[in-house]
Amino acid sequence: MDKRTHHCNELRKDHIDQAVVLNGWVNNYRDHGGVIFIDLRDRQGLTQLVFHPENAEAHTLADRLRHEDVVAVSGKVVARQEGMSNPKLPTGDIEVDCTQLVILNKAQTPPFLPDEGDKVGEELRLKHRFIDLRRPRMQDILRTRHRVTKTIRDFCDEQGFLEIETPFLCKSTPEGARDFLVPSRLQEGSFYALPQSPQLFKQILMTSGCERYIQIVRCFRDEDPRADRQAEFTQIDLEMSFVERDDVMNLCEEMIRRVWKDVLDVAVPPVRRMSYAEAMERYGSDRPDLRFDMELVNVSDLAAKTDFKVFSGAIEAGGIVKAIRVPGGGAKMSRKVTDGLAEWVKQFGAGGLPVTKIEGGAVSTGIAKFIEPIGADLIERMGAEEGDLICFGVDARPAVVARVLGELRVKIANDLEMIQPGQWEWLWVVDFPMVEWNEDNKRWDSLHHPFTAPTAEHMDKIESDTANVLSDAYDLVLNGSELGGGSIRIHSPEVQQRVFGLLGIDEQEARSKFGFLLDALNYGTPPHGGLAFGLDRIVMHLCDTTNIRDVIAFPKTQMGADLMTDAPSPVDAAQLDELSLRVQTHQEPAKSV
Ligand code: AMO
Repeated sequence: MDKRTHHCNELRKDHIDQAVVLNGWVNNYRDHGGVIFIDLRDRQGLTQLVFHPENAEAHTLADRLRHEDVVAVSGKVVARQEGMSNPKLPTGDIEVDCTQLVILNKAQTPPFLPDEGDKVGEELRLKHRFIDLRRPRMQDILRTRHRVTKTIRDFCDEQGFLEIETPFLCKSTPEGARDFLVPSRLQEGSFYALPQSPQLFKQILMTSGCERYIQIVRCFRDEDPRADRQAEFTQIDLEMSFVERDDVMNLCEEMIRRVWKDVLDVAVPPVRRMSYAEAMERYGSDRPDLRFDMELVNVSDLAAKTDFKVFSGAIEAGGIVKAIRVPGGGAKMSRKVTDGLAEWVKQFGAGGLPVTKIEGGAVSTGIAKFIEPIGADLIERMGAEEGDLICFGVDARPAVVARVLGELRVKIANDLEMIQPGQWEWLWVVDFPMVEWNEDNKRWDSLHHPFTAPTAEHMDKIESDTANVLSDAYDLVLNGSELGGGSIRIHSPEVQQRVFGLLGIDEQEARSKFGFLLDALNYGTPPHGGLAFGLDRIVMHLCDTTNIRDVIAFPKTQMGADLMTDAPSPVDAAQLDELSLRVQTHQEPAKSV
Protein backbone atom coordinates (compact mmCIF):
# COMPACT_ATOMS: atom_id res chain seq x y z
CA MET A 1 0.00 0.00 0.00
CA ASP A 2 1.29 3.48 -0.86
CA LYS A 3 1.72 6.21 1.74
CA ARG A 4 -1.30 8.22 2.90
CA THR A 5 -2.18 10.95 0.38
CA HIS A 6 -4.91 12.82 2.27
CA HIS A 7 -6.51 13.23 5.67
CA CYS A 8 -10.13 12.25 6.16
CA ASN A 9 -11.43 15.85 6.11
CA GLU A 10 -9.84 16.84 2.82
CA LEU A 11 -11.53 15.30 -0.16
CA ARG A 12 -14.08 17.32 -2.13
CA LYS A 13 -15.76 17.22 -5.55
CA ASP A 14 -12.54 18.67 -7.01
CA HIS A 15 -10.79 15.40 -6.18
CA ILE A 16 -13.21 13.21 -8.15
CA ASP A 17 -11.37 10.58 -10.21
CA GLN A 18 -8.15 10.99 -8.20
CA ALA A 19 -6.46 7.90 -6.74
CA VAL A 20 -6.05 8.35 -2.99
CA VAL A 21 -4.75 6.48 0.05
CA LEU A 22 -6.34 7.09 3.46
CA ASN A 23 -5.45 5.81 6.94
CA GLY A 24 -7.65 5.79 9.98
CA TRP A 25 -10.10 4.09 12.32
CA VAL A 26 -13.43 2.47 11.43
CA ASN A 27 -16.00 4.84 12.88
CA ASN A 28 -19.02 3.05 11.47
CA TYR A 29 -19.93 0.24 9.07
CA ARG A 30 -23.09 -0.61 7.14
CA ASP A 31 -23.94 -3.28 4.61
CA HIS A 32 -26.49 -2.11 2.03
CA GLY A 33 -27.44 -5.14 -0.03
CA GLY A 34 -23.89 -6.39 -0.39
CA VAL A 35 -22.29 -2.96 -0.82
CA ILE A 36 -20.29 -2.12 2.32
CA PHE A 37 -20.03 1.46 3.56
CA ILE A 38 -17.41 2.46 6.10
CA ASP A 39 -17.01 5.86 7.76
CA LEU A 40 -13.26 6.23 8.14
CA ARG A 41 -12.05 8.60 10.87
CA ASP A 42 -8.69 10.17 11.48
CA ARG A 43 -7.56 13.12 13.57
CA GLN A 44 -8.99 15.56 11.05
CA GLY A 45 -12.39 14.20 10.13
CA LEU A 46 -14.50 11.55 8.37
CA THR A 47 -14.63 10.14 4.85
CA GLN A 48 -17.10 7.59 3.53
CA LEU A 49 -15.53 4.49 1.94
CA VAL A 50 -17.45 2.13 -0.31
CA PHE A 51 -16.56 -1.50 -1.08
CA HIS A 52 -18.31 -3.18 -4.03
CA PRO A 53 -18.47 -6.99 -4.32
CA GLU A 54 -16.67 -6.74 -7.70
CA ASN A 55 -13.43 -5.92 -5.84
CA ALA A 56 -13.65 -9.31 -4.19
CA GLU A 57 -10.51 -9.29 -2.06
CA ALA A 58 -11.04 -5.84 -0.54
CA HIS A 59 -14.77 -6.51 -0.15
CA THR A 60 -14.17 -9.75 1.78
CA LEU A 61 -11.77 -8.00 4.13
CA ALA A 62 -14.13 -5.04 4.54
CA ASP A 63 -16.89 -7.44 5.53
CA ARG A 64 -14.82 -8.32 8.62
CA LEU A 65 -14.27 -4.74 9.73
CA ARG A 66 -15.64 -3.67 13.08
CA HIS A 67 -15.64 -0.46 15.15
CA GLU A 68 -12.20 1.05 15.81
CA ASP A 69 -10.19 -1.29 13.56
CA VAL A 70 -7.21 0.58 12.09
CA VAL A 71 -6.92 0.39 8.32
CA ALA A 72 -5.22 1.70 5.22
CA VAL A 73 -7.26 1.90 2.00
CA SER A 74 -6.61 2.94 -1.54
CA GLY A 75 -9.19 3.73 -4.18
CA LYS A 76 -10.71 6.41 -6.34
CA VAL A 77 -12.69 9.47 -5.29
CA VAL A 78 -16.21 9.31 -6.74
CA ALA A 79 -19.31 11.48 -6.42
CA ARG A 80 -21.96 10.17 -4.05
CA GLN A 81 -25.13 8.97 -5.72
CA GLU A 82 -27.88 11.47 -6.39
CA GLY A 83 -29.61 12.39 -3.09
CA MET A 84 -26.99 10.63 -0.94
CA SER A 85 -24.85 13.72 -0.15
CA ASN A 86 -24.38 14.56 3.51
CA PRO A 87 -24.35 18.35 3.92
CA LYS A 88 -23.27 18.05 7.56
CA LEU A 89 -19.94 16.54 6.55
CA PRO A 90 -17.25 18.60 4.76
CA THR A 91 -16.52 15.49 2.69
CA GLY A 92 -20.23 14.72 2.29
CA ASP A 93 -20.36 15.08 -1.51
CA ILE A 94 -17.88 12.31 -2.26
CA GLU A 95 -16.91 8.80 -1.24
CA VAL A 96 -13.83 6.68 -1.94
CA ASP A 97 -14.48 3.58 -4.04
CA CYS A 98 -11.90 1.27 -2.49
CA THR A 99 -9.94 -1.35 -4.40
CA GLN A 100 -7.43 -2.22 -1.72
CA LEU A 101 -7.70 -2.60 2.06
CA VAL A 102 -5.07 -3.46 4.66
CA ILE A 103 -6.14 -4.08 8.24
CA LEU A 104 -3.29 -2.57 10.27
CA ASN A 105 -4.73 -3.47 13.66
CA LYS A 106 -7.89 -5.35 14.63
CA ALA A 107 -9.68 -3.77 17.61
CA GLN A 108 -11.52 -5.73 20.27
CA THR A 109 -15.08 -4.57 20.93
CA PRO A 110 -14.40 -1.25 22.71
CA PRO A 111 -16.04 -0.51 26.10
CA PHE A 112 -17.58 2.55 24.43
CA LEU A 113 -17.39 4.25 21.07
CA PRO A 114 -15.80 7.66 20.59
CA ASP A 115 -19.19 8.86 19.34
CA GLU A 116 -20.83 7.92 22.63
CA GLY A 117 -18.18 9.56 24.86
CA ASP A 118 -20.56 12.20 26.21
CA LYS A 119 -22.99 9.61 27.48
CA VAL A 120 -20.39 7.42 29.17
CA GLY A 121 -19.39 7.78 32.84
CA GLU A 122 -16.15 9.67 33.41
CA GLU A 123 -14.55 6.79 35.29
CA LEU A 124 -14.86 4.50 32.27
CA ARG A 125 -13.60 7.22 29.98
CA LEU A 126 -10.54 7.87 32.13
CA LYS A 127 -9.74 4.18 32.38
CA HIS A 128 -9.81 3.91 28.60
CA ARG A 129 -8.41 7.36 27.94
CA PHE A 130 -6.82 6.11 24.69
CA ILE A 131 -10.35 5.71 23.29
CA ASP A 132 -11.76 8.79 24.98
CA LEU A 133 -9.11 11.00 23.40
CA ARG A 134 -10.26 9.84 19.94
CA ARG A 135 -13.47 11.83 20.41
CA PRO A 136 -13.59 14.85 18.09
CA ARG A 137 -14.30 17.06 21.12
CA MET A 138 -11.16 15.85 22.90
CA GLN A 139 -9.09 16.15 19.73
CA ASP A 140 -10.36 19.70 19.45
CA ILE A 141 -9.28 20.48 23.00
CA LEU A 142 -5.81 19.00 22.43
CA ARG A 143 -5.48 21.11 19.31
CA THR A 144 -6.60 24.25 21.14
CA ARG A 145 -4.12 23.58 23.92
CA HIS A 146 -1.34 23.25 21.36
CA ARG A 147 -2.48 26.45 19.68
CA VAL A 148 -2.36 28.35 22.98
CA THR A 149 1.18 27.26 23.85
CA LYS A 150 2.36 27.94 20.29
CA THR A 151 0.85 31.44 20.29
CA ILE A 152 2.42 32.17 23.67
CA ARG A 153 5.84 30.87 22.62
CA ASP A 154 5.72 32.97 19.44
CA PHE A 155 4.60 36.06 21.36
CA CYS A 156 7.30 35.66 24.01
CA ASP A 157 9.95 35.07 21.39
CA GLU A 158 8.97 38.34 19.69
CA GLN A 159 9.17 40.09 23.06
CA GLY A 160 12.70 38.85 23.78
CA PHE A 161 11.91 36.14 26.34
CA LEU A 162 14.13 33.08 26.74
CA GLU A 163 12.51 29.73 27.47
CA ILE A 164 14.55 28.19 30.27
CA GLU A 165 13.91 24.94 32.11
CA THR A 166 14.14 24.79 35.89
CA PRO A 167 14.51 21.60 37.95
CA PHE A 168 11.74 19.27 39.07
CA LEU A 169 13.82 17.72 41.82
CA CYS A 170 14.32 20.66 44.12
CA LYS A 171 13.91 22.18 47.51
CA SER A 172 10.47 23.15 48.73
CA THR A 173 9.10 26.47 47.39
CA PRO A 174 6.27 27.79 49.53
CA GLU A 175 3.11 28.51 47.53
CA GLY A 176 0.80 27.53 50.36
CA ALA A 177 0.16 23.90 49.44
CA ARG A 178 1.61 20.57 50.60
CA ASP A 179 4.71 19.33 48.78
CA PHE A 180 5.07 16.10 46.85
CA LEU A 181 8.28 14.56 48.15
CA VAL A 182 10.76 12.35 46.32
CA PRO A 183 13.18 10.32 48.45
CA SER A 184 16.87 10.53 47.62
CA ARG A 185 18.65 7.19 47.15
CA LEU A 186 22.11 8.69 47.39
CA GLN A 187 21.44 10.79 50.47
CA GLU A 188 19.63 8.51 52.86
CA GLY A 189 16.78 10.18 54.73
CA SER A 190 16.76 13.28 52.49
CA PHE A 191 14.02 14.29 50.13
CA TYR A 192 13.52 16.47 47.11
CA ALA A 193 10.27 18.39 46.75
CA LEU A 194 8.58 18.64 43.37
CA PRO A 195 8.14 22.35 42.56
CA GLN A 196 4.86 24.01 43.54
CA SER A 197 6.09 26.62 41.08
CA PRO A 198 9.50 27.67 39.72
CA GLN A 199 9.20 30.91 41.74
CA LEU A 200 12.67 31.05 43.26
CA PHE A 201 14.49 29.71 40.21
CA LYS A 202 12.95 32.38 38.00
CA GLN A 203 13.97 35.06 40.46
CA ILE A 204 17.52 33.66 40.50
CA LEU A 205 17.49 33.78 36.67
CA MET A 206 16.93 37.52 36.98
CA THR A 207 19.98 37.74 39.26
CA SER A 208 21.79 35.78 36.55
CA GLY A 209 21.07 38.49 34.00
CA CYS A 210 18.53 36.60 31.85
CA GLU A 211 16.18 39.62 31.98
CA ARG A 212 13.15 37.93 30.40
CA TYR A 213 12.27 34.31 31.24
CA ILE A 214 9.32 32.16 30.17
CA GLN A 215 8.58 28.53 30.84
CA ILE A 216 5.52 26.41 30.17
CA VAL A 217 6.02 24.20 33.13
CA ARG A 218 4.44 21.47 35.18
CA CYS A 219 3.81 22.34 38.85
CA PHE A 220 2.90 20.00 41.67
CA ARG A 221 0.74 20.74 44.69
CA ASP A 222 -0.50 18.03 46.98
CA GLU A 223 -3.94 19.51 47.51
CA ASP A 224 -7.38 18.03 46.94
CA PRO A 225 -8.37 18.25 43.28
CA ARG A 226 -11.41 20.42 42.46
CA ALA A 227 -13.26 21.31 39.29
CA ASP A 228 -10.52 23.82 38.38
CA ARG A 229 -7.62 22.35 40.31
CA GLN A 230 -5.31 19.39 39.76
CA ALA A 231 -2.37 18.25 41.86
CA GLU A 232 -0.27 18.29 38.70
CA PHE A 233 -1.00 21.28 36.47
CA THR A 234 0.75 23.56 34.00
CA GLN A 235 1.80 27.16 34.44
CA ILE A 236 2.81 29.73 31.86
CA ASP A 237 5.47 31.18 34.08
CA LEU A 238 7.27 34.41 33.30
CA GLU A 239 9.61 36.90 34.93
CA MET A 240 11.09 40.23 33.82
CA SER A 241 13.89 42.49 35.10
CA PHE A 242 13.94 46.28 35.46
CA VAL A 243 10.15 46.49 35.42
CA GLU A 244 7.33 47.94 37.45
CA ARG A 245 3.87 46.54 38.06
CA ASP A 246 2.30 48.10 34.96
CA ASP A 247 5.01 46.73 32.64
CA VAL A 248 4.24 43.15 33.68
CA MET A 249 0.47 43.65 33.66
CA ASN A 250 0.50 45.29 30.22
CA LEU A 251 2.64 42.55 28.70
CA CYS A 252 0.48 39.80 30.20
CA GLU A 253 -2.66 41.49 28.97
CA GLU A 254 -1.18 41.71 25.49
CA MET A 255 -0.32 38.00 25.62
CA ILE A 256 -3.86 37.08 26.60
CA ARG A 257 -5.24 39.38 23.92
CA ARG A 258 -3.16 37.53 21.31
CA VAL A 259 -4.35 34.13 22.55
CA TRP A 260 -8.06 35.04 22.49
CA LYS A 261 -7.68 36.59 19.05
CA ASP A 262 -5.76 33.62 17.63
CA VAL A 263 -7.90 30.87 19.07
CA LEU A 264 -11.40 32.34 19.17
CA ASP A 265 -11.10 35.51 17.09
CA VAL A 266 -12.43 37.38 20.13
CA ALA A 267 -11.07 40.86 20.94
CA VAL A 268 -10.15 41.39 24.58
CA PRO A 269 -10.81 45.05 25.47
CA PRO A 270 -8.49 46.93 27.87
CA VAL A 271 -8.91 45.12 31.18
CA ARG A 272 -10.28 47.20 34.04
CA ARG A 273 -8.71 47.18 37.50
CA MET A 274 -10.24 46.87 40.93
CA SER A 275 -8.59 46.93 44.32
CA TYR A 276 -8.75 43.87 46.51
CA ALA A 277 -10.62 45.95 49.12
CA GLU A 278 -13.29 46.99 46.61
CA ALA A 279 -13.67 43.45 45.25
CA MET A 280 -14.19 42.09 48.76
CA GLU A 281 -16.55 44.92 49.71
CA ARG A 282 -18.75 44.75 46.60
CA TYR A 283 -18.53 41.09 45.62
CA GLY A 284 -17.27 39.23 48.70
CA SER A 285 -14.49 37.68 46.63
CA ASP A 286 -10.99 38.48 45.39
CA ARG A 287 -11.97 36.98 42.03
CA PRO A 288 -15.41 38.45 41.40
CA ASP A 289 -17.56 37.24 38.55
CA LEU A 290 -18.72 40.43 36.85
CA ARG A 291 -21.07 38.79 34.36
CA PHE A 292 -23.96 39.59 36.70
CA ASP A 293 -24.71 42.21 39.39
CA MET A 294 -26.06 41.14 42.78
CA GLU A 295 -23.55 43.33 44.60
CA LEU A 296 -23.19 43.10 48.36
CA VAL A 297 -24.77 46.11 50.06
CA ASN A 298 -23.99 47.02 53.65
CA VAL A 299 -27.28 47.38 55.56
CA SER A 300 -25.84 47.15 59.08
CA ASP A 301 -27.15 50.62 60.03
CA LEU A 302 -30.69 49.67 59.00
CA ALA A 303 -30.44 46.24 60.60
CA ALA A 304 -29.42 47.87 63.89
CA LYS A 305 -32.79 49.67 63.98
CA THR A 306 -34.78 46.41 64.06
CA ASP A 307 -35.65 44.12 66.97
CA PHE A 308 -34.50 41.09 65.00
CA LYS A 309 -32.20 39.22 67.40
CA VAL A 310 -30.15 37.62 64.60
CA PHE A 311 -29.22 41.09 63.34
CA SER A 312 -28.69 42.81 66.66
CA GLY A 313 -26.72 39.87 68.09
CA ALA A 314 -24.24 39.95 65.21
CA ILE A 315 -23.89 43.74 65.25
CA GLU A 316 -23.36 43.86 69.02
CA ALA A 317 -20.62 41.27 68.61
CA GLY A 318 -18.81 43.59 66.18
CA GLY A 319 -20.22 41.97 63.05
CA ILE A 320 -22.10 43.25 60.03
CA VAL A 321 -25.23 42.66 57.98
CA LYS A 322 -25.01 42.78 54.21
CA ALA A 323 -27.57 41.91 51.57
CA ILE A 324 -27.83 40.96 47.93
CA ARG A 325 -30.80 41.58 45.68
CA VAL A 326 -31.82 38.71 43.41
CA PRO A 327 -33.57 40.43 40.53
CA GLY A 328 -36.03 39.21 38.00
CA GLY A 329 -38.39 36.92 39.76
CA GLY A 330 -36.17 35.92 42.69
CA ALA A 331 -39.39 36.14 44.65
CA LYS A 332 -40.70 33.17 42.69
CA MET A 333 -38.20 30.97 44.50
CA SER A 334 -40.17 28.60 46.67
CA ARG A 335 -39.69 28.27 50.41
CA LYS A 336 -38.10 24.90 49.73
CA VAL A 337 -35.50 26.50 47.44
CA THR A 338 -34.58 29.30 49.87
CA ASP A 339 -34.41 26.78 52.74
CA GLY A 340 -32.05 24.75 50.55
CA LEU A 341 -29.86 27.84 50.07
CA ALA A 342 -29.85 28.41 53.85
CA GLU A 343 -28.50 24.88 54.30
CA TRP A 344 -25.99 25.34 51.47
CA VAL A 345 -24.39 28.51 52.92
CA LYS A 346 -23.61 26.72 56.19
CA GLN A 347 -20.51 25.20 54.57
CA PHE A 348 -19.07 28.72 54.48
CA GLY A 349 -19.64 29.32 58.19
CA ALA A 350 -23.08 30.95 58.03
CA GLY A 351 -25.61 30.21 60.77
CA GLY A 352 -28.43 30.54 58.24
CA LEU A 353 -29.76 32.75 55.47
CA PRO A 354 -32.51 35.24 56.34
CA VAL A 355 -34.48 36.25 53.25
CA THR A 356 -37.41 38.43 52.33
CA LYS A 357 -39.34 39.10 49.16
CA ILE A 358 -40.56 42.35 47.67
CA GLU A 359 -44.25 41.98 46.92
CA GLY A 360 -46.95 44.65 46.71
CA GLY A 361 -44.21 47.28 47.03
CA ALA A 362 -43.17 46.10 50.50
CA VAL A 363 -41.13 43.43 52.23
CA SER A 364 -43.18 40.28 52.54
CA THR A 365 -42.59 36.74 53.76
CA GLY A 366 -39.37 35.42 55.25
CA ILE A 367 -38.17 37.78 57.96
CA ALA A 368 -40.59 40.54 56.82
CA LYS A 369 -42.33 40.78 60.17
CA PHE A 370 -39.04 41.65 61.90
CA ILE A 371 -37.88 44.21 59.39
CA GLU A 372 -41.12 45.97 58.40
CA PRO A 373 -40.06 49.23 60.12
CA ILE A 374 -37.01 49.47 57.86
CA GLY A 375 -38.78 47.99 54.81
CA ALA A 376 -39.00 51.21 52.77
CA ASP A 377 -35.40 52.21 53.53
CA LEU A 378 -34.20 48.73 52.68
CA ILE A 379 -36.02 48.75 49.34
CA GLU A 380 -34.46 52.12 48.53
CA ARG A 381 -30.93 51.11 49.64
CA MET A 382 -31.07 47.90 47.63
CA GLY A 383 -32.72 49.52 44.61
CA ALA A 384 -35.19 46.66 44.94
CA GLU A 385 -38.12 46.14 42.62
CA GLU A 386 -41.32 44.17 42.66
CA GLY A 387 -40.60 40.45 42.53
CA ASP A 388 -37.06 40.63 43.89
CA LEU A 389 -35.65 38.42 46.61
CA ILE A 390 -33.32 39.89 49.22
CA CYS A 391 -30.83 37.57 50.95
CA PHE A 392 -28.99 38.68 54.09
CA GLY A 393 -25.51 37.69 55.22
CA VAL A 394 -25.19 38.12 58.98
CA ASP A 395 -22.29 37.23 61.20
CA ALA A 396 -20.07 38.54 63.95
CA ARG A 397 -17.15 37.95 61.54
CA PRO A 398 -17.29 40.28 58.50
CA ALA A 399 -15.11 37.83 56.53
CA VAL A 400 -17.79 35.15 56.90
CA VAL A 401 -20.47 37.53 55.59
CA ALA A 402 -18.30 38.32 52.56
CA ARG A 403 -17.61 34.65 51.85
CA VAL A 404 -21.23 33.56 52.26
CA LEU A 405 -22.72 36.25 50.02
CA GLY A 406 -19.77 36.03 47.59
CA GLU A 407 -20.40 32.32 47.06
CA LEU A 408 -24.18 32.70 47.12
CA ARG A 409 -24.33 35.28 44.32
CA VAL A 410 -22.42 32.90 42.04
CA LYS A 411 -24.65 29.96 42.92
CA ILE A 412 -27.86 31.92 42.39
CA ALA A 413 -26.59 33.32 39.07
CA ASN A 414 -25.92 29.76 37.91
CA ASP A 415 -29.13 28.30 39.32
CA LEU A 416 -31.27 31.03 37.75
CA GLU A 417 -29.28 30.92 34.50
CA MET A 418 -28.45 34.62 34.64
CA ILE A 419 -25.18 34.13 32.73
CA GLN A 420 -25.36 34.54 28.97
CA PRO A 421 -23.11 32.26 26.91
CA GLY A 422 -20.15 34.02 25.27
CA GLN A 423 -19.74 36.68 27.97
CA TRP A 424 -16.13 37.53 28.85
CA GLU A 425 -15.65 39.70 31.94
CA TRP A 426 -11.98 40.43 32.54
CA LEU A 427 -10.59 42.07 35.63
CA TRP A 428 -7.24 42.83 37.21
CA VAL A 429 -7.43 42.67 40.98
CA VAL A 430 -4.68 44.84 42.48
CA ASP A 431 -3.57 46.35 45.80
CA PHE A 432 -3.67 43.14 47.77
CA PRO A 433 -2.74 43.30 51.44
CA MET A 434 0.73 41.83 51.86
CA VAL A 435 -0.34 39.50 54.66
CA GLU A 436 -3.44 38.16 56.36
CA TRP A 437 -3.87 37.12 59.96
CA ASN A 438 -4.09 33.38 60.52
CA GLU A 439 -6.29 33.10 63.60
CA ASP A 440 -5.78 29.35 64.02
CA ASN A 441 -2.00 29.57 64.14
CA LYS A 442 -1.88 33.11 65.52
CA ARG A 443 0.51 34.40 62.88
CA TRP A 444 0.69 36.46 59.68
CA ASP A 445 0.57 34.53 56.38
CA SER A 446 1.51 35.91 52.97
CA LEU A 447 -1.47 36.54 50.73
CA HIS A 448 0.63 35.68 47.66
CA HIS A 449 4.05 34.36 48.68
CA PRO A 450 6.85 35.65 50.91
CA PHE A 451 8.82 37.10 47.98
CA THR A 452 6.15 39.64 46.98
CA ALA A 453 7.25 43.24 47.50
CA PRO A 454 5.33 45.67 49.68
CA THR A 455 4.47 48.85 47.78
CA ALA A 456 7.11 51.57 48.03
CA GLU A 457 4.73 53.81 50.05
CA HIS A 458 4.17 51.08 52.63
CA MET A 459 7.75 49.94 53.05
CA ASP A 460 8.05 51.87 56.35
CA LYS A 461 4.92 50.31 57.83
CA ILE A 462 5.83 46.64 57.50
CA GLU A 463 6.24 46.17 61.24
CA SER A 464 4.25 49.11 62.61
CA ASP A 465 0.99 48.80 60.62
CA THR A 466 1.28 45.29 59.23
CA ALA A 467 -2.41 44.67 58.51
CA ASN A 468 -2.62 47.71 56.24
CA VAL A 469 0.52 47.13 54.19
CA LEU A 470 -0.34 46.66 50.53
CA SER A 471 1.76 44.64 48.14
CA ASP A 472 2.64 45.06 44.49
CA ALA A 473 0.67 41.96 43.53
CA TYR A 474 -1.94 41.47 40.80
CA ASP A 475 -4.31 38.70 39.73
CA LEU A 476 -6.00 38.38 36.36
CA VAL A 477 -9.58 37.20 36.75
CA LEU A 478 -11.90 35.99 34.00
CA ASN A 479 -15.59 35.32 34.68
CA GLY A 480 -14.88 34.71 38.36
CA SER A 481 -11.92 32.42 37.88
CA GLU A 482 -8.32 33.30 38.69
CA LEU A 483 -6.38 32.84 35.46
CA GLY A 484 -3.06 34.10 36.76
CA GLY A 485 -1.28 35.89 39.52
CA GLY A 486 2.02 37.62 40.05
CA SER A 487 3.86 40.46 41.70
CA ILE A 488 6.87 42.71 41.84
CA ARG A 489 9.40 40.86 44.00
CA ILE A 490 11.54 41.93 46.87
CA HIS A 491 15.04 42.52 45.53
CA SER A 492 16.64 43.90 48.67
CA PRO A 493 18.06 41.34 51.13
CA GLU A 494 17.14 43.60 54.08
CA VAL A 495 13.49 43.88 53.06
CA GLN A 496 13.34 40.14 52.39
CA GLN A 497 14.70 39.47 55.85
CA ARG A 498 12.16 41.86 57.41
CA VAL A 499 9.28 40.12 55.60
CA PHE A 500 10.56 36.70 56.67
CA GLY A 501 10.71 38.04 60.23
CA LEU A 502 7.11 39.21 60.03
CA LEU A 503 6.02 35.76 58.84
CA GLY A 504 7.74 34.17 61.83
CA ILE A 505 10.69 32.84 59.82
CA ASP A 506 13.74 33.71 61.95
CA GLU A 507 17.19 34.34 60.54
CA GLN A 508 18.37 30.79 61.09
CA GLU A 509 15.34 29.24 59.39
CA ALA A 510 15.55 31.77 56.55
CA ARG A 511 19.20 30.86 56.05
CA SER A 512 18.53 27.13 56.01
CA LYS A 513 15.48 27.33 53.72
CA PHE A 514 16.27 30.29 51.49
CA GLY A 515 19.98 30.96 52.01
CA PHE A 516 20.59 30.75 48.26
CA LEU A 517 17.97 33.44 47.61
CA LEU A 518 19.38 35.77 50.27
CA ASP A 519 22.85 35.22 48.79
CA ALA A 520 21.56 36.00 45.31
CA LEU A 521 19.91 39.19 46.57
CA ASN A 522 23.30 40.17 47.97
CA TYR A 523 25.10 39.66 44.69
CA GLY A 524 23.45 42.10 42.34
CA THR A 525 19.77 41.34 41.79
CA PRO A 526 17.87 43.81 39.59
CA PRO A 527 14.34 44.97 40.39
CA HIS A 528 12.09 42.31 38.88
CA GLY A 529 8.58 40.95 38.74
CA GLY A 530 6.48 38.42 36.90
CA LEU A 531 3.35 36.37 36.78
CA ALA A 532 2.14 32.81 36.20
CA PHE A 533 -1.00 31.87 34.30
CA GLY A 534 -2.72 28.55 34.77
CA LEU A 535 -2.59 27.02 31.27
CA ASP A 536 -5.25 24.45 32.10
CA ARG A 537 -7.65 27.18 33.22
CA ILE A 538 -7.02 29.23 30.08
CA VAL A 539 -7.84 26.21 27.92
CA MET A 540 -10.95 25.50 30.02
CA HIS A 541 -12.30 28.95 29.20
CA LEU A 542 -11.38 28.72 25.53
CA CYS A 543 -13.02 25.29 25.22
CA ASP A 544 -15.99 26.22 27.39
CA THR A 545 -15.71 23.46 29.95
CA THR A 546 -15.92 23.64 33.74
CA ASN A 547 -14.03 20.38 34.25
CA ILE A 548 -10.23 20.72 34.33
CA ARG A 549 -9.88 17.00 33.52
CA ASP A 550 -11.30 17.68 30.05
CA VAL A 551 -8.29 19.82 29.09
CA ILE A 552 -5.52 17.54 30.40
CA ALA A 553 -4.63 14.52 28.27
CA PHE A 554 -4.02 12.24 31.26
CA PRO A 555 -5.61 13.81 34.34
CA LYS A 556 -6.05 12.50 37.90
CA THR A 557 -9.34 11.76 39.66
CA GLN A 558 -10.60 13.32 42.90
CA MET A 559 -8.52 10.75 44.77
CA GLY A 560 -5.40 11.68 42.80
CA ALA A 561 -5.50 8.46 40.77
CA ASP A 562 -4.61 7.90 37.14
CA LEU A 563 -7.20 5.25 36.32
CA MET A 564 -5.50 4.20 33.09
CA THR A 565 -2.08 3.38 34.51
CA ASP A 566 -3.37 2.71 38.03
CA ALA A 567 -1.03 5.21 39.67
CA PRO A 568 -0.27 5.62 42.49
CA SER A 569 0.49 1.99 43.28
CA PRO A 570 2.51 0.12 45.89
CA VAL A 571 6.17 -0.55 45.12
CA ASP A 572 8.10 -3.69 45.97
CA ALA A 573 10.15 -4.12 49.12
CA ALA A 574 13.49 -4.00 47.29
CA GLN A 575 12.73 -0.57 45.87
CA LEU A 576 11.77 0.74 49.30
CA ASP A 577 14.88 -0.81 50.79
CA GLU A 578 17.08 0.93 48.27
CA LEU A 579 15.53 4.24 49.33
CA SER A 580 15.85 3.36 53.04
CA LEU A 581 12.07 3.68 53.42
CA ARG A 582 9.54 1.69 55.38
CA VAL A 583 5.78 2.10 54.84
CA GLN A 584 3.63 2.57 57.89
CA THR A 585 -0.04 2.35 56.91
CA HIS A 586 -2.59 4.21 58.99
CA GLN A 587 -5.54 2.82 57.10
CA GLU A 588 -6.48 0.46 54.33
CA PRO A 589 -5.45 2.02 50.99
CA ALA A 590 -8.45 3.85 49.55
CA LYS A 591 -9.87 2.07 46.52
CA SER A 592 -12.59 4.48 45.49
CA VAL A 593 -11.84 7.00 42.78
P1 AMO B 1 -0.25 30.99 41.94
O1 AMO B 1 -0.12 30.06 43.08
O2 AMO B 1 -1.30 32.05 42.03
O3 AMO B 1 1.12 31.80 41.71
O4 AMO B 1 -0.45 30.18 40.61
C1 AMO B 1 -0.56 30.84 39.35
C2 AMO B 1 -1.74 30.30 38.57
O5 AMO B 1 -1.65 28.89 38.42
C3 AMO B 1 -2.95 28.33 38.38
N1 AMO B 1 -3.06 27.29 39.43
C4 AMO B 1 -3.62 26.08 39.24
N2 AMO B 1 -4.21 25.53 38.18
C5 AMO B 1 -4.68 24.27 38.30
N3 AMO B 1 -4.56 23.52 39.41
C6 AMO B 1 -3.96 24.03 40.52
N4 AMO B 1 -3.83 23.27 41.62
C7 AMO B 1 -3.46 25.37 40.47
N5 AMO B 1 -2.82 26.18 41.35
C8 AMO B 1 -2.58 27.33 40.70
C9 AMO B 1 -3.95 29.44 38.62
C10 AMO B 1 -3.09 30.50 39.25
O6 AMO B 1 -3.57 31.81 39.00
N6 AMO B 1 4.74 31.63 41.66
C11 AMO B 1 3.46 32.29 41.61
C12 AMO B 1 3.32 33.16 40.37
C13 AMO B 1 4.14 34.40 40.42
O7 AMO B 1 4.15 35.07 41.48
O8 AMO B 1 4.75 34.72 39.39
C14 AMO B 1 2.37 31.24 41.62
O9 AMO B 1 2.57 30.06 41.49
O10 AMO B 1 -4.45 29.88 37.37
